[in-house]
Amino acid sequence: MILIVGASGKVGKGVARWALKEGHKVRCISRDPKSRLADLEQEGAEVVKGDLGNIKSLNEACQDVTHVVATAHSLLGRGRRSSAIVDDRGHRDLVDAAYECGVKHFIYVSAYGAEIDHPSKFYRFKYKIERYLTQSRVPYTIIRPTYFMETHVHEHIVKPILEKNKVKLYGKGKTIRNFVHSQDVTQLIAHVLTHPETVGKTINIGGPEENNMTTNDVVELVKNMTNTDPKVHHVSRMVLNVLPKILKPFHPGRSQYLCMALYYDTHDEPFDTKPLLTEYPLTLTKLEPWLKTKIKQ
Ligand SMILES: NC(=O)c1ccc[n+]([C@@H]2O[C@H](COP(=O)([O-])OP(=O)(O)OC[C@H]3O[C@@H](n4cnc5c(N)ncnc54)[C@H](OP(=O)(O)O)[C@@H]3O)[C@@H](O)[C@H]2O)c1
Repeated sequence: MILIVGASGKVGKGVARWALKEGHKVRCISRDPKSRLADLEQEGAEVVKGDLGNIKSLNEACQDVTHVVATAHSLLGRGRRSSAIVDDRGHRDLVDAAYECGVKHFIYVSAYGAEIDHPSKFYRFKYKIERYLTQSRVPYTIIRPTYFMETHVHEHIVKPILEKNKVKLYGKGKTIRNFVHSQDVTQLIAHVLTHPETVGKTINIGGPEENNMTTNDVVELVKNMTNTDPKVHHVSRMVLNVLPKILKPFHPGRSQYLCMALYYDTHDEPFDTKPLLTEYPLTLTKLEPWLKTKIKQ
């Protein structure tokens, strides 16, 4: 039985669909399974109410499970949905529950660039859970994706341009980032689930070399493809420095998000696919053709 935590999300849903198609038993948890997982239930998954903020629900969800795929996050959550509760404590509780239930393989979706001293707490939590897992007795594989193109290109750039003819960029938009499709991450997790020799590995995943680009490059691409001339507003680095401090007591998630935005506006983070493609049989999605089809829809 494969347990998927975050099954209503982009990566989690993809993994659930793949696993069901392959004939695996799948259990999915969500805080609101009726509305968020009705489709997967229809496709044959066992869906249950579960919350990373509730240890009892995690212990129950891990019963009779051989594999756990942990793809949930709560970057922008507040209060009992905060990142500290969900991304940090909740994931440590999930690892403990998996250990107690004798789980054979725990696949954790972290993030490319997660480090102990990252300026964003979210990335520090990801790093902390990686360490927690590697020091646990649970057999694990860690997956570290770059930025998802559905979120960072489509949601943040394409949609505002098409809907409002304007777009807000954090900082100067001149640093290089890499964009990956969540389906490629799903593809890698499917491989990991069927190849026990991946236990103990930490795997970075990003899009192909041509997906290394600046945010300004992406805006230019969208402008050309849509034949538009949107108003581009750059939120200054000074604002990105000050605003997180003001927001922190009221909205720690937004505060973290802006810290991340400042970080990626001041650091190049290209991705080299060679180590990934040498070891894993993946077809990575190219941003430009994907964007063309997305814009046509
Ligand atoms: N987006 C990116 O660019 C990016 C880059 C690198 C790494 N990642 C990582 O990739 C993973 C998958 O991201 P995604 O974009 O596929 O996720 P997503 O679509 O944003 O979905 C988030 C998921 O988290 C679940 N969740 C949130 N709070 C929860 C809680 N308290 N208890 C249980 N589940 C909870 C949600 O489930 P319900 O709402 O149904 O409960 C939902 O299924 C995440 O770990 C993310 O940090 C993302």
